[in-house]
Amino acid sequence: MFQAGQGSTWGLRNRLARIIKPSDGRTLMLAVDHGYFLGPIRGLENPKRAITPLLPHVDAVMLTRGVLRTSIDPTADIPVVLRVSGGNTIDGPVLGNEEIVTSVEDALRLNVSALAFSIYVGTEFEHQTLKALARLVDAGEEYGVPVLAVTAVGRELEKRTARYIGLSCRVAAELGAHFIKTYYTDDFHRVVDSVPVPLVIAGGPKLETDMDVLRLAYNAVSEGAAGLDFGRNVFQNPNPVGMAKALRGIVHENMTPEEAAELLKPEKIKA
Ligand code: 5RP
Repeated sequence: MFQAGQGSTWGLRNRLARIIKPSDGRTLMLAVDHGYFLGPIRGLENPKRAITPLLPHVDAVMLTRGVLRTSIDPTADIPVVLRVSGGNTIDGPVLGNEEIVTSVEDALRLNVSALAFSIYVGTEFEHQTLKALARLVDAGEEYGVPVLAVTAVGRELEKRTARYIGLSCRVAAELGAHFIKTYYTDDFHRVVDSVPVPLVIAGGPKLETDMDVLRLAYNAVSEGAAGLDFGRNVFQNPNPVGMAKALRGIVHENMTPEEAAELLKPEKIKA
C-alpha cells in the first residue's frame, strides 16, 4: 500500500489520502477535464448534467477551474484534482504546447486536493512540459498540494507501449510527481515496478463493449495500478452510473469483470 515519502508535509499526505483511499491504497477518479482542449465533446456537452449523478460513485473528480466553479456544488464532499495545464486545442497546429494556466494560489482558494499537469515526452514540447511539471511540484510541495503528472500521448495513440509509458512515468516520478495518470500497456507490471509512485489509468477513447472497459480496469489494478481515472468510457456510456458502480466494484471490492458486469444490469441499477 502506498505511503507518502517522509519528506512530504502533513497537508500533502492528507490531501493525497482523500484521493487514494488509505484503506486499500486505491482510487476511482472521474476524469471530466476533456473540454480544456476538446471543447464540448460527446457526453460532456453540459458538464453539470453529466457530472452530478456520477459524483456519489467516485472517489475524486478531475476537471478545470472553469467547470469546477460553474458545475460542481461547493458543498459537495468530493476531492478535486484540478487540471492546471492548457493553452492548446484539438484545432491548433499541434497538441502538447501546454503551460501552467492556473496558479497554485487559485487552486488553494478552490480547496483542491491535487494539481494535474500533462507532459509530452518525445515531442518538441518535452522540455517545456517537463520543466513546468518540476516547477509545479516545487509549488505543490511549498503549499502541501500533491501533483498528478499526466503522460499524454496527443493524437499518437500508438505511443502507448511499455517502453514509452515506462519512460514517461519514470521521468515524471523522478521530477517529483506524487502520482501519475497514464495508459495501460502490455507488460504493465514492469512499468509499475519501475515507477516509485502510484499510477492511475486513463480509459482512452470509448471502447467497443462494456466488457472491454471492465477488463481494462481489472487488468490494470491486477497488475498494480492504484486505480482508474476514466472519462469517456464512463460519461459516454449509455449507462454512466452503472459503469461507475461496476468500476468501483473492480477497484475497491476486487470484483472480476464478470462480477462487475452484473452491476450494469437494469435491476441492479434501480436498487
Ligand atoms: C488527456 C487527458 C484527458 O483530458 C482525460 O483526462 C482522459 O481521460 P479518458 O482517456 O479516460 O477519457 O488526460 O491527456
